[in-house]
Amino acid sequence: MFASLAAVTDERLGRVIVGSEALAQRVRDLGAQITVDYRDRSPLLVGVLKGAFMFMSDLARSIDLPVEFDFMAVSSYGSATRSSGVVRILKDLDLDIGGRHVLLVEDIVDSGLTLGYVRRNLLARRPASLEVCALLVKDGLQRDDPQIRYVGFRIPPVFVVGYGLDVEERYRNLEDVVEYREGA
Ligand code: IMP
Ligand code: MG
Repeated sequence: MFASLAAVTDERLGRVIVGSEALAQRVRDLGAQITVDYRDRSPLLVGVLKGAFMFMSDLARSIDLPVEFDFMAVSSYGSATRSSGVVRILKDLDLDIGGRHVLLVEDIVDSGLTLGYVRRNLLARRPASLEVCALLVKDGLQRDDPQIRYVGFRIPPVFVVGYGLDVEERYRNLEDVVEYREGA
């Protein structure tokens, strides 16, 4: 497959942190849980671009409810592999989320600064509810962060790429979540 081929030919790609089969299984389980938790409601999935696009696409297909979609794009200033906590909205939502049951779909939470900013921003628009579903949470954050209702995987505090995640826009199409070794 492409992912393993790339791993052989790109020395900056290290260990597989979460393989494609584990991703697929966990995403199905999260979708089933969300289906139960939101029964009789129509959640609005808000994806944070670009990293969450692949996860959100798979997750949505595992949710057996009439969901709606919107996206926002943010950029956190910082180096290629570390965010600074200064967040800028590059693309805002199209929909009014007032009174809606919003499920924020994030790719990865590291320091939590980006998530904190986006949460505060969305809460100010008075949704009926706001929960967070993050595919990956890096160890180091509080063990059970009550702000993140649904967590795909806890991973060690290494930089990862693949399944939507990038470094300078590359590697998003890898099937697995793979360690990226800076400067290798
Ligand atoms: P935080 O603000 O430190 O939590 O960083 C969150 C944002 O930084 C994510 O939404 C990603 O865009 C990016 N990010 C953090 N860690 C990684 C990583 O390991 N790989 C790719 N992007 C990451
Ligand atoms: Mg990024």
